[in-house]
Amino acid sequence: MPSETTIQHLCDAMHVCVLTGAGVSAESGVATFRDPDGLWAKFSPQELASMDGFLANPERVRDWYTYRLHVIDSVTPNRAHTALATLEQHVPKLTLITQNVDRLHQQAGSRNVVELHGNLLENRCNGCGWLTDAHKHVEICIRCGDLMRPNVVWFGEMLPVEAIEQATEAARTCDVFICIGTSAEVYPAAQLPYDARNHGAYLVEINPNQTVLTPYAHQSIRHTAVKAVSELVERFLNKRNTHSPPR
Ligand code: OAD
Repeated sequence: MPSETTIQHLCDAMHVCVLTGAGVSAESGVATFRDPDGLWAKFSPQELASMDGFLANPERVRDWYTYRLHVIDSVTPNRAHTALATLEQHVPKLTLITQNVDRLHQQAGSRNVVELHGNLLENRCNGCGWLTDAHKHVEICIRCGDLMRPNVVWFGEMLPVEAIEQATEAARTCDVFICIGTSAEVYPAAQLPYDARNHGAYLVEINPNQTVLTPYAHQSIRHTAVKAVSELVERFLNKRNTHSPPR
């Protein structure tokens, strides 16, 4: 569980940066991608998460995203999401960078969220970028006539420029960088923890399994997100309250 050194770094930090992946939503009931029971073990990313796959069979791709939308409509944020929202209120600055497309961080109350891979709740016109509510299932753009697609980043596509710029800046300037529930295998998101560490941040990983990032982390906490993040935030709040000067 979190070491005393980790808690102390959190107490001293002016800027905390958190990078989350699918593992933070696993305990809400949202499947991860690369675990043995993950989405990429059952479905083909080439068919379902690439422009070529979409153009080959838009119906199949839309159906799959509608299924994933129903999943996230039926789940709620877990205690890892809510603990991160609490942490944001008690540190001078927190940037929450997420690869997740489920909006559960925002639902839990996090405010400063950078979405690197888009979100499942919107569809976007492939031509002009017009956005619609994904629940409306609009297939053709009423503005330019091009195909509507899920507003998520597919393999081979660029990340939203503003999001990756904001994330990179945050990683390079934060004091503590916490990676939660990500295999840290998908770039450019996976570059962020290395950038943070190279720029002097204290690097923490929370993941029940070892990852490629583990050898670079100052502390790797081998627990699930709900258990580890709740304890991290609780101990941070206790220590901060104990040591803060009386008013
Ligand atoms: P992955 O599926 O690659 O990794 C999920 C990580 O979560 C694994 O390292 C698990 O060990 C860990 N994990 C599982 N259960 C957990 C729990 N309860 N608590 C904490 N950790 C847990 O998911 P990502 O790293 O998010 O991209 O994948 C990155 C990107 O690859 C995704 O955003 C998606 C995918 O292709 C797009 O859709 C563009």
